[in-house]
Amino acid sequence: MKLIHTINELRAELDVQRKAGKKIGLVPTMGALHDGHASLVKLAVAENEVVVVSDFVNPTQFNDKNDLLKYPRTLEADCELLEKENATYVFAPSVEEIYPEPDTRQFSYAPLDTVMEGKFRPGHFNGVCQIVSKLFMIVEPDRAYFGEKDFQQLAIIREMVKQMNFPIEIIGCPIVREHDGLALSSRNARLSDVERQQALNISKTLFLSKEFASSHTVAETQQFVEDAIAASEGLELEYFELVDGNTLQKISNWEETTYAVGCITVYCGDVRLIDNIKYKE
Ligand code: PAF
Repeated sequence: MKLIHTINELRAELDVQRKAGKKIGLVPTMGALHDGHASLVKLAVAENEVVVVSDFVNPTQFNDKNDLLKYPRTLEADCELLEKENATYVFAPSVEEIYPEPDTRQFSYAPLDTVMEGKFRPGHFNGVCQIVSKLFMIVEPDRAYFGEKDFQQLAIIREMVKQMNFPIEIIGCPIVREHDGLALSSRNARLSDVERQQALNISKTLFLSKEFASSHTVAETQQFVEDAIAASEGLELEYFELVDGNTLQKISNWEETTYAVGCITVYCGDVRLIDNIKYKE
């Protein structure tokens, strides 16, 4: 495995690989890697001869500067994990390498990016599209891998690929959870032991709501989740929305879609956690 910091060096390496007929998989990350990322890399390694993992905390997608400052940076440990997973290249550029000048491009995929995270984190998806499109243009992968935990991000990236005609197959990978249900996230490292226990009520509520939904309406399921989180010590609900998994628009009854997903964002202390569950697919 090779650690690369510059675009020119990465391009030169990938040119040789491409000329040798190798398929290239890209796993974009912001580092602080955990088993969720490892599952993306495993799949990428199984499906491509060459796997590039980008490890870059992208400043343009943080609407909260404090969040950017607190974001864990663990390149050495990340490289150890990626070596074990047989990644070919780790691409860890500096901010200046990626943004030698401010990126003024505007991406708008309304209504996909105006709801949920788009509403609560203005500018976030614009920043995600800036970095992901740059990575796509630098790496020119055959396939790119993203986790379904960031459900809305995945939908927006699929739309960007469609609208910009990137010849890249986007692969969504299932959420990886701890044994007790907590969705893996780089932010979990910021939870105290007590908060870690309190955060369990997020996935527990989603699992229970799936059972509840089988004999209740969309509105009743919405209320069930809101009440359960309100009754959970240490948790504060930002939003829970029951949406069509393709359009990300709210549904009002189960019959109106074949793909129903519940997306939730909850604060546990000052740590913002997201999760989701599929009710129908
Ligand atoms: O999901 C993430 O970790 C980031 O949003 C991504 C896709 C790596 C872009 O910075």
